[in-house]
Amino acid sequence: MQENRFDKAASSWDEVPERVEMAKHFATAIEDIVPLDLKMRVMDFGCGTGNVATRLAPLVGEITAVDSSSGMINVLEKKLAESSTKNIKPLLIELNKDSFREASFDLIYSCMTFHHIEDIECVLHTFYKMLKPSGYLALIDLEKEDGSFHDDKTGVVHFGFDPELLSRTLEEIGFSDIYSRTAYTRVKTLPSGICQEYPIFMITGMKSIA
Ligand SMILES: C[S@@+](CC[C@H](N)C(=O)[O-])C[C@H]1O[C@@H](n2cnc3c(N)ncnc32)[C@H](O)[C@@H]1O
Repeated sequence: MQENRFDKAASSWDEVPERVEMAKHFATAIEDIVPLDLKMRVMDFGCGTGNVATRLAPLVGEITAVDSSSGMINVLEKKLAESSTKNIKPLLIELNKDSFREASFDLIYSCMTFHHIEDIECVLHTFYKMLKPSGYLALIDLEKEDGSFHDDKTGVVHFGFDPELLSRTLEEIGFSDIYSRTAYTRVKTLPSGICQEYPIFMITGMKSIA
């Protein structure tokens, strides 16, 4: 895989306290809504340096932490080597429909990754297949924004999402019990000195049994 913006950013990713703080809120938002248990097989799609996964790991069986950046996966592997957490399995892949067997996971979540994904519908279909019946999906990402969230827009393919439209897409794919709420609001001081709020949604859904 080619070096990308995340490979370059990986080694200093956790030095930005707001990123680590956001991940804490994401983990709490997931924990508040999804009934986690120690038998669950979970996928974190776009795990980065594992700031969400390391918080959820004590509450579930195993987390497959997927990312397409070798830099991010290397940082996560190093972190895990120095920690007592043994149930996170980092995996460097470009996800496709054949990456996992059907019905492999009880929960798939993804935080701040979808705005980097061109064909989100294709990924959502893949998630649907990979979930077990009654498995949960939790998507956390920016609401529609004016493009100011990222100073470097390399690899940013969506300036956030309309949660209503995304919820409808999930419904069309077959998810049920879809619910959207604000998971966190990130405040950033822009180069102009203006403070701007960026609401971040969490949409949850379930793979229908039928
Ligand atoms: C903004 S970071 C978020 C990291 C982490 N989820 C968090 O909230 O701290 C986005 C992550 O998505 C990963 N990513 C982007 N496109 C991806 C793809 N197609 N497949 C897997 N991971 C991807 C990047 O490498 C990066 O680690």
